[in-house]
Amino acid sequence: MFEYFAEDAPREGETFNEAMTLMVGSMNDVLAEHIDVAGARRYVDVGGGQGTMLRAVLRRNPGLHGVLFDLAQALTDVHEDLRTGELAGRCGVVPGDGLESVPQGGDIYQMRTVLHMWDDDTCVRLLRNRARAAAPGARTLVIDQLLDTERPQPMTTPMDLQMFLIAGGRERSEEEFAALFERAGLTFTRVARTPVLLHIVEAAVPAP
Ligand SMILES: C[S@@+](CC[C@H](N)C(=O)[O-])C[C@H]1O[C@@H](n2cnc3c(N)ncnc32)[C@H](O)[C@@H]1O
Repeated sequence: MFEYFAEDAPREGETFNEAMTLMVGSMNDVLAEHIDVAGARRYVDVGGGQGTMLRAVLRRNPGLHGVLFDLAQALTDVHEDLRTGELAGRCGVVPGDGLESVPQGGDIYQMRTVLHMWDDDTCVRLLRNRARAAAPGARTLVIDQLLDTERPQPMTTPMDLQMFLIAGGRERSEEEFAALFERAGLTFTRVARTPVLLHIVEAAVPAP
């Protein structure tokens, strides 16, 4: 889908980016309230799109520096506060492919509604790159819906099917995320449940 946007359909790609911001962007402030950045200096948003979630985290945490990382085609309409506005001095915008590598040296790596686009093997590839990019103790925050495998859920179950049909991806349960982390060499640490649709599943780079 992203190759199609880049090579054949840039206008549709822009519409996709705008839609993501509209759809999940309304949850930015609530999610940012549930993110504890204590001790962190460099916060990397992998697949961060137009950057509105990173903006919410940086506005809430004045000591933090951010890196917005995404495919080049997704960075054409980054939120103005991050490019030239009040947060530009403490935010870098870096194009790249997370399936090849991610920016080095982050204390926290966030991925919001990114892993659900992909099958397990592709997620593990991204998470391994992420594990290699930072020191022991660096944290990964996966922000996604949490699938209840015992009973259908009004939003998450249809989204699970939709992700499978359009991108070969899926929604996952807490246990399924923990298994992905283990395959990628990360240690599952906890889940922060929020009052909105998305929750925060956390892992860390283990000590060598
Ligand atoms: C569903 S959108 C979520 C955007 C953003 N995280 C948010 O919550 O608003 C998925 C994002 O992953 C990005 N993406 C897809 N493949 C990627 C890759 N290989 N490396 C880095 N980012 C990628 C897309 O460009 C898109 O911005």
